Amino acid sequence: MKKLFTLILLALLPLAASAQQQSIDQRVEELLGKMTIEDKIGQLNQMDGRRDLEKIKQEVRTGTLSSIMNIVDPAVTNELQRIAIEESPAGIPLLFARDVVHGFNTVLPIPLGQAASWDEELIEAASANTALEATERGIRWAFAPMMDIARDARWGRIAESFGEDTYMAGRLATAVVRGYQGESLANPTAMAACAKHFVGYGDAEGGRDYNTTSIPPRTLRDVYLPPFKACVDEGCASIMTSFNDNDGLPSTGNHWLLTELLREQWGFEGVVVSDWGSVAGLIPHGVAHDKRDAAHQCIEAGCDVDMSSRSYLLNLKDLIEKGEVEEAVLDEAVRRVLKLKMALGLFEQPYARTAEQSDIYSEPVLATACRLAEESVVMLKNEGKVLPLGESVKRVLVVGPMAHAPYDQMGTWALDGQKEHTITPIMALREQWGDKVAIDYVPCLTHPRDKSTAEFKRMTKAARKADVVVAFVGEEQMMSGEAHSLSSLDLQGVQGEMLEALAQTGTPLVTVFMAGRPLTISRQVEISDAVLYAWHPGTMGGKALANILFGVANPSGKLPVTFPRNVGQIPIYYNHKHTSHIAKGTEGNLDNIPRESPQSVMGHTSSYLDVAPTPLFPFGYGLSYTTFELSDIRIESTAVRPEESVKVSVVVSNTGEREGTEVVQLYTGRKTASVTQPMKELKDFQRITLRAGESRKVEFEVPVSRLAFHNRNMELAVEEGKYTLTIGTDSQTGLKTYFKIIK
Ligand code: NOJ
Repeated sequence: MKKLFTLILLALLPLAASAQQQSIDQRVEELLGKMTIEDKIGQLNQMDGRRDLEKIKQEVRTGTLSSIMNIVDPAVTNELQRIAIEESPAGIPLLFARDVVHGFNTVLPIPLGQAASWDEELIEAASANTALEATERGIRWAFAPMMDIARDARWGRIAESFGEDTYMAGRLATAVVRGYQGESLANPTAMAACAKHFVGYGDAEGGRDYNTTSIPPRTLRDVYLPPFKACVDEGCASIMTSFNDNDGLPSTGNHWLLTELLREQWGFEGVVVSDWGSVAGLIPHGVAHDKRDAAHQCIEAGCDVDMSSRSYLLNLKDLIEKGEVEEAVLDEAVRRVLKLKMALGLFEQPYARTAEQSDIYSEPVLATACRLAEESVVMLKNEGKVLPLGESVKRVLVVGPMAHAPYDQMGTWALDGQKEHTITPIMALREQWGDKVAIDYVPCLTHPRDKSTAEFKRMTKAARKADVVVAFVGEEQMMSGEAHSLSSLDLQGVQGEMLEALAQTGTPLVTVFMAGRPLTISRQVEISDAVLYAWHPGTMGGKALANILFGVANPSGKLPVTFPRNVGQIPIYYNHKHTSHIAKGTEGNLDNIPRESPQSVMGHTSSYLDVAPTPLFPFGYGLSYTTFELSDIRIESTAVRPEESVKVSVVVSNTGEREGTEVVQLYTGRKTASVTQPMKELKDFQRITLRAGESRKVEFEVPVSRLAFHNRNMELAVEEGKYTLTIGTDSQTGLKTYFKIIK
């Protein structure tokens, strides 16, 4: 009976949702009909809240503000909200927005670190916790997830991305959307998500933030756009434009992008917001004369909300009165903003929610953050099974500037993280293991850029006495993020020298990196016995690392981005195209180059003379304290039609001595098609936890439609022909099978 009731309820849900939408549409039309042109223009203006409060109040009172960024004090937001409702001409509630990028007060690992977990369920759960914390502070609009494909580690914002892969970015970004938005936006614990930056921003020339991009149409459609499409299909409430121009057109004024593609082809009904000042940004880009011209171009292109440039506020009225912009265009943008505010339930419950029991830094929120931090750690090396630290280890020396860097460990965009709440590695190691193992601590360097060698002697002396050294190195929070790009990815300061000195002592060396990006760490990997890559792991990073070092947790992270050997290899990513002169893999040794021979002696491959064509570590790579083997790959049918799925299974066995989790990755590739293809592409993945000795058949069902690409006629289509399918535990190895797509 109960089941029947649930079934009826489930069947009625879509009807209820569409009735709710109908009533929202109706209410919006009624409201719009009563609004003056000034009221309407005010609804498209978003400004920062970190300004003189009295001025902001006045703007709210006069109805010239629709949403405010960066106020997280509910006493202030509630007062502003009261003014909006009771004193502004149209009485429309405000919407409070913030960059809630990876956690709120409880800081989660940076998104690149979260991506290393490949755990969409956990990311969704942690994002839902983030929404709990942020909504308690009055925030109902979060400027995340960021899903820019990032293949250049010099770009500081790679930290905010889910890495280099299109399919993975889509899967993880949609997990964040689900976590933030929950079942219904009307729930006071839900925030509207914002997919950003639309589009191509991660391909900034030279890795320099804000730089121009030159992404050809097919690559744009096959590589950069799909994660956004996935978020649109997931019901993401808003989209933010990007700062860059692509092929001559700044995104915020790109009609094809914001209207023809996003709205007309994809059916997106939510709000498009500019990035900060990017409406007026058309002026320095050199495609608009002034703010009036910029406002004209952007509103017509389909950008609804002007973030912080006031170009709309100051010019739309004049543009409409002079007949240059139709009022219907304004109405359409306002309609979308009002719909979002109604969907969020702001007209019914405009004030910051009050929680009976605060979720901020609550036990369950911290526990989830800790698990995500554990799962984000990638073990890159573990020679002689130095890790986990076992019973034979009686004395550990902890060194390095990141062993206790409570601020830096939070990473970029930790606006609401408080370093007083950060658990650093040395804190956790002492607290959890201090009574069982002697833990010595010599920071040696005060911060990663420190160039002093004054403590080296004391450090090496302590290292000789220890059974193992654990060195925490990396980069400061300030080295990645917006406008923080680097031209060298080597360890800064004398961290490299510090590790050399430690390695020379002969005591086993475990190096833990905390950074916002892949650093160039070939030498450090070579001289370390074990290497963990922990990104910037957030509030609970220290505890997570202590758990991993002592084997309470088993590493399961896998690289979401290729690690280059040196900066010169960038951009380097696993799914590069087939080329006519594919590298053999053996190139790249200056010592092998003969003197004064003809040029052809080296062959003709796409490679460098001075560095191998292969990465230091490939995409998808990561070790565990146990070992896994794959066997018995079986494909159900070797000929499938476009509307069918490829069904394939593989047996995964835990061949080691403890429980562990493997990320089983499925890649497809094709050699011949109407346009050149990537060597292989990730098309599915599963996290599998197995007990020691356990084997399990893992099944995949990949819809053939997922293999579609933009063909020679620029149509998104599945092409007939032969495919390879590889299932592996990284992007370079695995078991291979074949299938054909037939029509
Ligand atoms: C600029 C950044 O590019 C964007 O990601 C962010 O959401 C806005 N500023 C608002 O802070």
